[in-house]
Amino acid sequence: MSALLFSLRPKDIRTALALIVGLVAGGLIGPGAAHGATIKQRPCDIYAAANTPCVAAHSTVRSLYAKYAGPLYQVKRSSDNAAENIGVLSDGYANAAAQDAFCANTSCIITRIYDQSSRHNDLTIAGGGHYKGPGPGGADLGAAADALPITAGGHQVYGVSISPGMGYHDIRTTGVAVNGEPEGMYMVSSATHFNSGCCFDYGNAETSSTDTGAGHMDALNVSRDLEWPNCRNEARPGVHADLENGIFHWDKRSCNPAAVIGGVPRPFISTWLKNNSRTRFALKWGDAQSGGLSTIYAGALPRGYAPMRQEGAIILGIGGDNSHASAGSFFEGVMTSGFPADSADNAVQSDIVAAGYGAPTGLSGTMAPGSEISLQATTACCTADYVRNQNGAAVIAPITARSTAQDRRDATWIVRRGLADSACVSFEAKGSPGDFLRHQNSALHLQSFDGTALNRSDATFCAQPGKNGKGNSFHALNYPTKYIRHFYGKVYVAGDGDSGNPWDTKALWTDDVSFIVGPPWSP
Ligand code: AHR
Repeated sequence: MSALLFSLRPKDIRTALALIVGLVAGGLIGPGAAHGATIKQRPCDIYAAANTPCVAAHSTVRSLYAKYAGPLYQVKRSSDNAAENIGVLSDGYANAAAQDAFCANTSCIITRIYDQSSRHNDLTIAGGGHYKGPGPGGADLGAAADALPITAGGHQVYGVSISPGMGYHDIRTTGVAVNGEPEGMYMVSSATHFNSGCCFDYGNAETSSTDTGAGHMDALNVSRDLEWPNCRNEARPGVHADLENGIFHWDKRSCNPAAVIGGVPRPFISTWLKNNSRTRFALKWGDAQSGGLSTIYAGALPRGYAPMRQEGAIILGIGGDNSHASAGSFFEGVMTSGFPADSADNAVQSDIVAAGYGAPTGLSGTMAPGSEISLQATTACCTADYVRNQNGAAVIAPITARSTAQDRRDATWIVRRGLADSACVSFEAKGSPGDFLRHQNSALHLQSFDGTALNRSDATFCAQPGKNGKGNSFHALNYPTKYIRHFYGKVYVAGDGDSGNPWDTKALWTDDVSFIVGPPWSP
């Protein structure tokens, strides 16, 4: 310890001592320190002790200060447009049961994610910008409040699930770095929910929601980045810095393999960007469920980006110009004033791990929301067949344990609370997060959740016992006499002889509309 302190400049020593005092006081190090119960400090307490205080702290999952007891986020329900703030339980985790009660039998979107710092840099649904959103007046869409059930701290809580068209921002902030000021940020996100659309970002962006040039942004980005040639064959996501007109893995306009999140895709990752905005920036990532941080890059800024010219707006789920083609999951994130010490980042990573992020419900093969399932046909012809996604269309096809990983993923569905009615369910494609089974002109296919009333109800199905006595049958919420049915290999919603469509034929109807809900093909 002392050798390390002697090698530091006085300012660094003050920072290190303040951090150590804070960590000991907080129970993160020293006698009695343990995961979970004894932790007294949360990320923004750690950064404050390190002299790089949070100027923004957003989460729908938990408080990011030990003493924060205000609202985490606000939801608005579709039945009467009423809004409700969702606060914290005594241990600082979100009171998701309040959301469930408020949104029962209707649907809710997240309309505001409160900034827990004293700056009040709250995120609201982004409105327009260079790229107009699909919502009223060019606004983006709000995320469905119950689209991302997870567990944290032993509680069922919700993350923010961004599909293309959705996004949040605050274009009138205080305290956020501008014009070459140093800053840091992290977000807890997912390496299993991403795409290659621009831009799943969290961080500093333009106040005009318009591309104003290189260096006007300084935001974390998690995506499958197609921007740099050598990364184009990479199917996995990476952690990048969106510095405007460039999503950088390092200081070069080429692929940095260290940015790719390798191995088994991790459902919860922590991603880190800090930038002194003149000579140095760094990217790191970690598994949010265990272990420490890996450095992707620490070095000079790309040519043409120093000094930075940040404008101080905050974005989530979109690019600086309101590009909204991206998908991703957000659980928590903070931005700091000043370039945080690695020791502070490491202490925050320990706190994130201790927060106990976990799978939606731990269930599989059941109709409970969050459960991952397969849907097996019960008609005599086809009991080896399962409902699967095939290039966006829903079909039935044989699947076995020896099927390719892609085929098994395409035959695996995540049960979600019904997008239009929480008493029913929606089926999200395991291999295509954010896309749901939806009927349109009677045929079932995959479509991104887009927040519109028709999209929601066409993607909502109500389960009842199987019409042939096996498994379950599912009727369309908005067509109660029409059930999910396979017919000559394709999947429809079909009535029992109630119209002239070939797939409505009475023959084999009760068998064709009955499916066994079983374990997922792709764990
Ligand atoms: O830098 C990549 C993206 O380019 C930015 O997020 C956006 O503002 C621009 O389209």
